[in-house]
Amino acid sequence: MLKGKKILIGITGSIAAYKIPLLVRLFIKAGAEVKVVMTGSACDFVTPLTLSTLSQQPILIEPYNKVDGSWHSHVDWGRWADVFILAPVSANTLAKMANGIADNLLTTTYLAAKCPVFFAPAMDLDMFHHPTTKKNINTLLSYGNHLIEPQTGELASGLCGEGRMEEPEVIFEVIRAFFLKSSELSGKKVLVSAGPTYEAIDPVRFIGNHSSGKMGYAIAQEAANRGAEVVLVSGPVEISVNHPLISVIKVKSAAQMADACLKSFGDADFTVMSAAVADYTVAEPAPRKIKKSGERLTLELVKTTDILAELGKMKKPGQYLAGFALETENEGSNATEKLNKKNLDLIVLNSLNDTGAGFGTSTNKVSIIFKEGNIVEFDLKPKSQVATDIWDTILSHSKSLSNSKA
Ligand code: CTP
Repeated sequence: MLKGKKILIGITGSIAAYKIPLLVRLFIKAGAEVKVVMTGSACDFVTPLTLSTLSQQPILIEPYNKVDGSWHSHVDWGRWADVFILAPVSANTLAKMANGIADNLLTTTYLAAKCPVFFAPAMDLDMFHHPTTKKNINTLLSYGNHLIEPQTGELASGLCGEGRMEEPEVIFEVIRAFFLKSSELSGKKVLVSAGPTYEAIDPVRFIGNHSSGKMGYAIAQEAANRGAEVVLVSGPVEISVNHPLISVIKVKSAAQMADACLKSFGDADFTVMSAAVADYTVAEPAPRKIKKSGERLTLELVKTTDILAELGKMKKPGQYLAGFALETENEGSNATEKLNKKNLDLIVLNSLNDTGAGFGTSTNKVSIIFKEGNIVEFDLKPKSQVATDIWDTILSHSKSLSNSKA
């Protein structure tokens, strides 16, 4: 699985750096190629000579060679890697990564990297629990970077608590599992919808909703990370995605979203409708700006196509269909009703009664209800991790559906 994989390891100044030679050795033994980039202060904790001996590669620390003046390209290394593991990451480097500060070779390489990024923080307990650290970790997660959570244990300060870098053997297993997963959806086509829709009232006004699109984009990203070819039908959102396996179709209205989804559905092995589609649209949008006149203004609204229900009718054996339900009351029964009515395989329920869940936030708390009636509940997590849970669940469910048919 790891044979020939290109692993870039970034080491920062933390006592846990002394464990990284073991990590390098594990990857080399598994047949991977390893390159190491370090910050200057990382060299106080582990020597470049140890790392270059184990990786059989020169170690990069400075942006250029001070003897012959030759330039070390951060872009080349970022592009070379199949995965970039930053371990240990100090609070200082974490803050730089979250804020785009590129003042050494390691942070410039991080900014230029196109491959999946994993980061394993290591710091003292109080530093780890500082709100700034939490905020920086959440920012990195919102960029699709993967957190390798620190463990609770004895820290270099003599304190005991959270902040101890995960052990090299576990980091190695996380990366191995990642490569295993990365081919899980290869050859499969995935359709995802995301974001709100805007229903025009006149050329300057619309009826919309608060959906940020973050959940749908995270679902598309996770599917692409697992090797799927993804069509992402997106309503108007502030975010963007840059992945070679994702093609984005930008739409505004519910009718445009319906058109794009219905066209792409035939090819899709898996479809996840996470968009917040308007249920009603303006019957006759005004061709020119509506001028202020009487005390009241009445708009006539007509129903839009229920895209998911249409896809449910078109669904062929072997196609997997998942929807979302955002509820404020009778959550379980409302979601189950949608699941059955729209012929879904599962529905992801988020309740606006859960703090940190639903629209606009970077986190979500979901329950997944299966067509067989069972329910799995998840904790509040960053949306990228919710997307991982959703794909893990979809894939094990679809496997059990095909096994039960066999
Ligand atoms: N959906 C859709 N087309 C619509 C409305 C909703 O495809 N016109 C999809 C959403 O993307 C979501 C699911 O249906 O996956 C449920 O959406 P939701 O708004 O929660 O439910 P509705 O069926 O619209 O019912 P209600 O608004 O009455 O709760």
